[in-house]
Amino acid sequence: MMAVSLENHLHTVKIDHNLRHLICTIARTAKYVHHAMQTGDLGLAGTSNMYGEAQLALDVLSNQIFVKELQESTYTTVLASEEMDEIIETPEDKKGDYAVVFDPLDGSSLVNANLAIGSIFGIYKGEKLIGRTGNEMAAALYVIYGPRVTLVYSIGNGVHEFILNAVGEFVLSKENIKVEDEAKNFAPGNLRAAKENEKYAKLFKHWVQSDLTLRYSGGMVPDINHIFMKGQGIFTYPKYKDAPKGKLRLLFECAPMAYLMEKAGGRATDGQKRILDVKIETLDQRTPIFIGSGKTVKKAESIMK
Ligand code: F6P
Ligand code: MN
Repeated sequence: MMAVSLENHLHTVKIDHNLRHLICTIARTAKYVHHAMQTGDLGLAGTSNMYGEAQLALDVLSNQIFVKELQESTYTTVLASEEMDEIIETPEDKKGDYAVVFDPLDGSSLVNANLAIGSIFGIYKGEKLIGRTGNEMAAALYVIYGPRVTLVYSIGNGVHEFILNAVGEFVLSKENIKVEDEAKNFAPGNLRAAKENEKYAKLFKHWVQSDLTLRYSGGMVPDINHIFMKGQGIFTYPKYKDAPKGKLRLLFECAPMAYLMEKAGGRATDGQKRILDVKIETLDQRTPIFIGSGKTVKKAESIMK
């Protein structure tokens, strides 16, 4: 059977021409980011490299690469990124139709330990972000830089995975990914919250007593990707005293992942409400998250209530 590239795949679905090009632009740019992480010397921001040149932290560099390519693409209206304090407008002569929100390098502190990291994207038609909800996304995707580079996207009909091959194409590896109702694996983010929150301690105990297997890397992208690839699982990151609204960002991290999870048949809530129904009020808005296999997430909600 002929390999199906991301571009081919986007031709088989009913999709706005510009959205198709935008998704391909993100996929292409992720390859530049991957190259930067393979070749950079992983210095901290403000430090210099062996040649005495100022060194950019990988997350700052990744942000610059995505901003440049997305603005040049002519498909964007505005960009918002976890690495920037404000929304930036695409210059008039390069303006397109879509607002793109992204976490250019999630889990960047894991990179020097050679663990998997990722980039997360949400795409909204128009220019407005504040006041909208994740329900209005036109597409969501993430790229994960692990032993292999993979990309998972949805434009609403199905969730699909692609693997970057040796000649730089993303080829289809899993079509219509589904997440079953019951988890066999669990990924308990922010377990330190169990110290002050008895309910989280109880939930953890419930998972252990139900013989669930721990699969936790410390990176949201690989931890949630694990759920998609195994077709089941749960990832949680509740609030705690130092982060009373949770740590993970609604706009850049939780909403795109919630969109993908729901399209795969799973569930994503803040403990009460669908993440996709939460109104975006600020760029930096945080939310607790419970995401994965539907029934297992509901059970977690009832224990946390
Ligand atoms: O950007 C957030 C992040 O790095 C996620 O990828 C990950 O799930 C989480 O933080 C881990 O948080 P903590 O350091 O509190 O365990
Ligand atoms: Mn992040």
